Amino acid sequence: MVLTRSPVVTEALRAAVRAPSPHNSQPWIFELGPDTVDVVLDESRILDACDPDAREARLACGAALLNLRLAIAAAGRVSEVELAPERARPSLLARVTLGPRHRPTAAERRLAAAIPRRYSNRHPFTDEPVPLRLRTAVREAAREEGARLVLVDEAGLLEATAGLIRRADHVQGLDTAFQRELRAWTRQTAEDDGVPTYAGGPRSAGGLLAGRYVNEGGAPRVFEQDPLVAVLTTPNDAPISQVRAGCAMQRVLLTATDAGLSASFYSQPVEITAIRAELRDLLGGTVHPQTVFRLGYGYPGVKTPRRPIEEVARDRDTGERP
Ligand SMILES: Cc1cc2nc3c(=O)[nH]c(=O)nc-3n(C[C@H](O)[C@H](O)[C@H](O)COP(=O)(O)O)c2cc1C
Repeated sequence: MVLTRSPVVTEALRAAVRAPSPHNSQPWIFELGPDTVDVVLDESRILDACDPDAREARLACGAALLNLRLAIAAAGRVSEVELAPERARPSLLARVTLGPRHRPTAAERRLAAAIPRRYSNRHPFTDEPVPLRLRTAVREAAREEGARLVLVDEAGLLEATAGLIRRADHVQGLDTAFQRELRAWTRQTAEDDGVPTYAGGPRSAGGLLAGRYVNEGGAPRVFEQDPLVAVLTTPNDAPISQVRAGCAMQRVLLTATDAGLSASFYSQPVEITAIRAELRDLLGGTVHPQTVFRLGYGYPGVKTPRRPIEEVARDRDTGERP
């Protein structure tokens, strides 16, 4: 059977593109073979100002890869993943090969069902604390993909981490190239990439954290008093580790979504090399911070658009779109 006509692959691609990405840049291409889906980094969509090393682009592709795996599993097929399958082609991040039939586990079904429900929620969360059992579940989700999720739940560490977020946000506020790029990816009208203004959050009234995509027009709002900030880390920092980190990030976010939690990112301190080094030191100096987000109980928010799968998928041999 030609895969491009397989409903399993079509649905898996629809799931893949729901992954989060910096500025909703969607830096992925899916090349379809007879029984494979290759996840390729779209180098034309790397963000020069905030992500010159393509770390966040690889995280986004890793998240898309996890969505692919889960959707294939939930559709009742085995998949095997090879990371960086061709040394000579570093933009080819992963090859997913479809295998025989498979009985999906309850966890695969639940996480796959969470894919279309996940979105970034930049609004204040309630002050209800995230229970211990869910803190354990999100940590375990990261561990399953070879990463470590540090929950910043000690007051001194939270204050220091929040300080790095605010300082990095300030530095980016003064960086004209960063600001130009941010504006270029902020959308006033409906488009299928970039961050629509309606997905922005309110200004924070004297809050601990500094958000991005703030709707300056509205009244400031009080955010949760004791936010649960999480730093996703990996034991090393090679490009392949960044793809793994993306799988871990997405497994954490889907586990959180399934449990009724919301999340929003604060990647400013990871985007500035010197501040990222400070964050690494703050966490003990042995792990590599990959991304930062907060978790909590939010109110329903809004989803952002994606490019159609016809635009991001192509035949591996002919380059033709499906
Ligand atoms: C690696 C990475 C870094 C991100 N950094 C930020 C950030 O600093 N601030 C923010 O508000 N959103 C951030 N985002 C969220 C994206 O803007 C969001 O995923 C994208 O706009 C798509 O929207 P969705 O998550 O609601 O599907 C980040 C996403 C990824 C994957």
